[in-house]
Amino acid sequence: MKNEASRRGSNMEAGSAVWLLLCALLSVCACTIDPNQIDPIVYEEQLLWVSGVQGEVNTFRIPLITFTPKGSLLAFAEGRKSGAGDGGAKFLAMRRSTDKGRWTTRSVTQPVHQRATWSPTSFIVDDGWMPDGLNLGSVVVDEEVGSVILIYSICFHLDFCQPSSTMMVESTDDGLSWTVPRNISAQLGSQSFAPGPGYGIQKRYNPAKGRLVVCGHGTLERNGVFCILSNDHGRTWYNGAALKSIPFNQKKKAQDFDPDENQLVEMPDGSIIVNVRNQNNYHCRCRVVVRSLDGGESLPIDELYFDYTLVDPAVAAGALQKDGVLYFTNPANEQHRINLTLRWSVTHGNSWENKTVQIWLGPSGYSSMTSLNSDSLEDQKYIFVIYEKGHKDYDETISVAKIHLYGGR
Ligand SMILES: *[C@@H]1O[C@H](CO)[C@@H](O)[C@H](O)[C@H]1NC(C)=O
Ligand SMILES: *[C@@H]1O[C@H](CO)[C@@H](O)[C@H](O)[C@H]1NC(C)=O
Ligand SMILES: *[C@@H]1O[C@H](CO)[C@@H](O)[C@H](O)[C@H]1NC(C)=O
Repeated sequence: MKNEASRRGSNMEAGSAVWLLLCALLSVCACTIDPNQIDPIVYEEQLLWVSGVQGEVNTFRIPLITFTPKGSLLAFAEGRKSGAGDGGAKFLAMRRSTDKGRWTTRSVTQPVHQRATWSPTSFIVDDGWMPDGLNLGSVVVDEEVGSVILIYSICFHLDFCQPSSTMMVESTDDGLSWTVPRNISAQLGSQSFAPGPGYGIQKRYNPAKGRLVVCGHGTLERNGVFCILSNDHGRTWYNGAALKSIPFNQKKKAQDFDPDENQLVEMPDGSIIVNVRNQNNYHCRCRVVVRSLDGGESLPIDELYFDYTLVDPAVAAGALQKDGVLYFTNPANEQHRINLTLRWSVTHGNSWENKTVQIWLGPSGYSSMTSLNSDSLEDQKYIFVIYEKGHKDYDETISVAKIHLYGGR
């Protein structure tokens, strides 16, 4: 599988290099790539974590990935100490890569492939033996000050402990070291809030350029999409938008409106789209999408729709906007967590291309994406998808796939 992908990759790379060369010759390069040229392939794939084989960890779950402002890749996951369940004690596991898995190109026709190298796992938070320990989480990059912030919850399910707390750790040295956990519940209140899972954003465009926006969900009767905001690089946080479940603060029935885990993306017009898990299959077995027009302060019901193309088994999915194209990953199946699929939209999510890329046919769960925004053509060609992948169960491993967006040409 991996060898085949690499072999295909190397043939395609030659074509793509010629095309990029042409592109460079034709325009004096402010050379952005034409979205219609998108034809992704899985270029390389590496397993980052394998459940059940590493020391004190029983199961790795809930993968996150981000680029730092300096261009390093950071991958995170929960290292669940004693079982596969969401509760229980955990480590916050991290691996770091500074080389993006670059190809070294000797010549256009004979590229030399070098795999990405990753640091060993470090545990940046250890919750000891908490009965309902830490849950990931959202990673946010603040480009303006060059920091990386991770927000997670403890005691989210309110099993055996009260109250729930929202916690934050931060790195200002490219992910090498992390602050001790800071409790931001004093600012936000102690309602259960599980960020993401995925990434938060720093607004690039107005309204509220520079603001950090992290969206997540509540729990049980008080479920819904909730966003927290910071206008001072993460020093202080306050509660922003809420899209509440119906009936709110009451027990749910099958098919009640119960918006759950979510991923937000900023669109080029400065609006924010939140792509949401539809927990109780209200209206469809598909994704709920809701838009914020005020930088995450509100999620008006007028801006909500159901995306019937994005068939979903109720799971945390990935969304990413890059160079005007919206990407989406999930296990594309109404019933089961299988068939991890990449889709893309050149119409800001109004429609999706008919072609899709199947990343993994078998069991696959949560996924998240990142990409490096830079002026380099090399960086414009790739996105990275981190996801839960297995043969019998989706929680067997956590894998990262490097996708070449123009690999088919
Ligand atoms: C976090 O702060 C809140 C509010 O001040 C408090 O109720 C909670 O116990 C704190 N959590 C932890 C783990 O210290
Ligand atoms: C996988 O997803 C593709 C794209 O949506 C779909 O055509 C196919 O039927 C799916 N297969 C399974 C087994 O779910
Ligand atoms: C994509 O599928 C839709 C619905 O089946 C169809 O109307 C449309 O023509 C297709 N587009 C392309 C480019 O094949």
